[in-house]
Amino acid sequence: MKSIEQRPVLVIGAGIMGAGIAQVAAQAGHDVMLHDAREGAAAAAKSRLATTLDGLAAKGKLTADAAGATLARIRPLASLDQAGDATLVVEAIVEDLEAKRALLRELEAIVGEDCILATNTSSISVTALANGLRRPQRLVGMHFFNPVPLMKLVEVVSGLHTDPAVAQAVFELGAQWGKTPVHARSTPGFIVNRIARPFYAETLALLAERAAEPAVLDACLRAAGFRMGPCELMDLIGHDTNFAVTQSVYDANFFDKRYLPSLVQRELVDGGLLGRKSGRGFYDHRDGPVRPSLPGFEPIAPPAAGRVVLHGRSAVGDRLADALAAVGREVQREPQSAWTGVEADALQLRLTDGRCATALGERVAVFDRLPNSPDTGAPLAFAVSQRAPQGTQAQAASWLRAAGFNPMPLRDVPGLLVARTIAMLINEASDAVHQGVCDAPGADAAMKLGVNYPAGPFEWLAQWDAAAVVQLLDALDAHYRGERYRASPALRLSAFGTM
Ligand code: NAI
Repeated sequence: MKSIEQRPVLVIGAGIMGAGIAQVAAQAGHDVMLHDAREGAAAAAKSRLATTLDGLAAKGKLTADAAGATLARIRPLASLDQAGDATLVVEAIVEDLEAKRALLRELEAIVGEDCILATNTSSISVTALANGLRRPQRLVGMHFFNPVPLMKLVEVVSGLHTDPAVAQAVFELGAQWGKTPVHARSTPGFIVNRIARPFYAETLALLAERAAEPAVLDACLRAAGFRMGPCELMDLIGHDTNFAVTQSVYDANFFDKRYLPSLVQRELVDGGLLGRKSGRGFYDHRDGPVRPSLPGFEPIAPPAAGRVVLHGRSAVGDRLADALAAVGREVQREPQSAWTGVEADALQLRLTDGRCATALGERVAVFDRLPNSPDTGAPLAFAVSQRAPQGTQAQAASWLRAAGFNPMPLRDVPGLLVARTIAMLINEASDAVHQGVCDAPGADAAMKLGVNYPAGPFEWLAQWDAAAVVQLLDALDAHYRGERYRASPALRLSAFGTM
């Protein structure tokens, strides 16, 4: 096998992605040719890379020698005709099927028979791009994430024509470049852009129902371990970009309502409220970064009650048991109960199973799931039965506060926020695996490395219970009666313990 230095790489498109790919390939030791259709763009990208590499050397992340050598390996190329010795081409040009097809056909006439052709497309079918090539089996997707030098994930995307040996070679090369490659089958959104849809969609659906304000939803999902809440993340990505990805996944799935874009986001786009880049989105960014403040957390002692029963096991129940013990109060346990949560006299405070509090009774409140061990004062969504007598919301909030949570009232929506978001991420990942898009470890790695999730969907599933996830989805499905909450056949089967 040829050493890396003997394997020149051609990167086409010297924009955000192409420049990053060129840097990573050159840092791994390849000679890199960088070409862009716009005159001077490749040379300009090289000089920007010089600044980047100098910065890395100044911070001690790279020796000055390594930075210099990396830069020296990158050669702007005016014409593709000079690229005949490339062993790998990675194209990162404009996201347009015809432009990419034309470029790939042109390349076939220039590069050698063994040269692998890779596309960094994030939404175009690799199978469609290969159609019409003389040797379609050498085309593979090599989907990097932005910023390329920092993001570890690369999705290695195989279309119907792709030779498995080509996919494997690119997989191994990705690993040599310091990335974590994951195999994916060419299907709409590949892995990350598909499985991530519910993260945005559930919050957008709750906003459409006026269940809570963006700041509340963001805070609750951050408490579940996400680095950013969906609203602040969509503001960062740009609503135009995020909406376009959702729209393309929806279109490509023949308008399956599971992927239905949101009118809430559509209106932001139409109004030019694109997020940080336009100064306003869900939040106002004009005076710098914003994080609207929420009511602070005040610890309190457990409220007075004649009888407190803890049903099943939950973090709220466990913490209340400690709080009650600390003040010498009695608590009964019903570990085998049909529901999970706290019963304090006539009030039931139940961990959501997907049903609304209103459907469960009069003096009922439901609270959300938090998958990690949350800090004291962590925001926790809850909702109260619409049939409850006055004062029930304040009472439920007091019990949650006594358990060390910062209670965030939502309208009485099924599955609240964190529970339904994570259930839907698990559901989408289950379907992706069921349809052979990737395997379960690949889905977990992709979501953790491609979008920084605190855990992978199958890791969440392992801490939860497939039957409970299906029950929650079925409750959502019964409530909304649409296609969105259709449980994955794989998840339904695994609820019987078969996966
Ligand atoms: P960009 O607009 O920053 O860069 C594209 C570059 O390609 C431009 O410099 C343009 O002059 C050049 N170009 C256009 N047509 C060309 C042609 N026929 N031949 C040679 N050069 C040509 O775009 P960006 O963001 O770097 O995206 C490039 C590709 O990477 C797209 O396919 C995009 O979907 C994909 N991608 C983008 C990500 C992102 O976050 N920006 C993430 C992952 C993939």
